[in-house]
Amino acid sequence: MRAVLCKRFGPPEDLSLEEVPGLPLGEGQVRIAVKAASINFADTLVIQGKYQEKPPFPFVPGFECAGTVMEVGPGVRHLKPGLRVMALAPKGAFATETVTDATAVIPLPDGMDFAEGASFPVAYGTSHIGLVDRGQLKAGETLLVLGAAGGVGLTAVEIGKALGARVIAAASSADKLEVARAHGADAVIDYSTEDLKARVKELAPKGVDVVYDPVGGDLFDAALRCMAWNGRIVVVGFAGGRIPSVPANLLLVKQIAVAGVYWGAHQKNDPKRLAGSLMELMGLYMAGKLKPHVSHRVPLERYAEAFHLLMDRKATGKVVLTME
Ligand SMILES: NC(=O)c1ccc[n+]([C@@H]2O[C@H](COP(=O)([O-])OP(=O)(O)OC[C@H]3O[C@@H](n4cnc5c(N)ncnc54)[C@H](OP(=O)(O)O)[C@@H]3O)[C@@H](O)[C@H]2O)c1
Repeated sequence: MRAVLCKRFGPPEDLSLEEVPGLPLGEGQVRIAVKAASINFADTLVIQGKYQEKPPFPFVPGFECAGTVMEVGPGVRHLKPGLRVMALAPKGAFATETVTDATAVIPLPDGMDFAEGASFPVAYGTSHIGLVDRGQLKAGETLLVLGAAGGVGLTAVEIGKALGARVIAAASSADKLEVARAHGADAVIDYSTEDLKARVKELAPKGVDVVYDPVGGDLFDAALRCMAWNGRIVVVGFAGGRIPSVPANLLLVKQIAVAGVYWGAHQKNDPKRLAGSLMELMGLYMAGKLKPHVSHRVPLERYAEAFHLLMDRKATGKVVLTME
């Protein structure tokens, strides 16, 4: 099989595409012929040694993919060769083949192509648990999404709309905001040219009920000052680079709750909820309420270019590596 290898921490140019032997298939596992694998922000951190987990070298990056089942290990009954699936891999998705646990494999619904399937679990899963469980978003409430055209941001716009909220999308360019509007945003804020707090005051004079924040830094600081009474701010990530601190007095004055979300940790801590959330998302997809957006489909051999689309803020929705 061909695989993108990380042999030392560094920029995408330090990775290499090589022929490597296939992985052994254990009990309860599935071998997948990968057709598409999406790049997550976490992948850009993993290869640079900036992620919380640092795999031993050499390793194949990539957390999620879609493809067809090639082979199932002993004990796997609900999957069979030839089935089209999406899958999570602890790592190893940026390759023409991967092996993962059968519990991390979901059949692709009709109409969903491989690139969309490879983009689905992490981004939609994070925003669903982030907004429903952590943000407690209700119909009729106002949701502010930061980084609203990014991988997780755009899914939060769609899920917010599906839950019946009024969605304000905030991003760094008119083009990105156009994408957010096309995915359901009711109002938009361009934070490269507009003051976030002043614009929110115009759009939602009483403040917003929920903030969904994958960016952090100055935007988190500003968003914390845009909250309505009893507001909730969901901490998703720090794509902007700075981890913000919370002045506790602001929380007291408006009864604001700050809620973190760590989707990946549900596999260990609450697998039942994870599975239930993914089932709900499949239902929303089948009902036509979710439309996965892939701005770039890039052949596997151009992996460095694909990483840079994300790292240089040029992508909207997801960037996907394709294997054919
Ligand atoms: N907690 C969890 O379980 C979980 C799960 C998935 C992802 N995440 C985190 O969520 C964040 C976003 O992930 P993602 O996959 O959606 O990434 P993404 O597709 O690259 O989106 C990130 C967005 O952040 C904004 N941004 C602001 N400053 C940036 C910078 N210096 N570099 C890159 N982007 C910047 C960009 O929007 P503008 O240009 O419009 O500002 C971009 O669209 C990451 O921190 C990731 O680790 C967390």
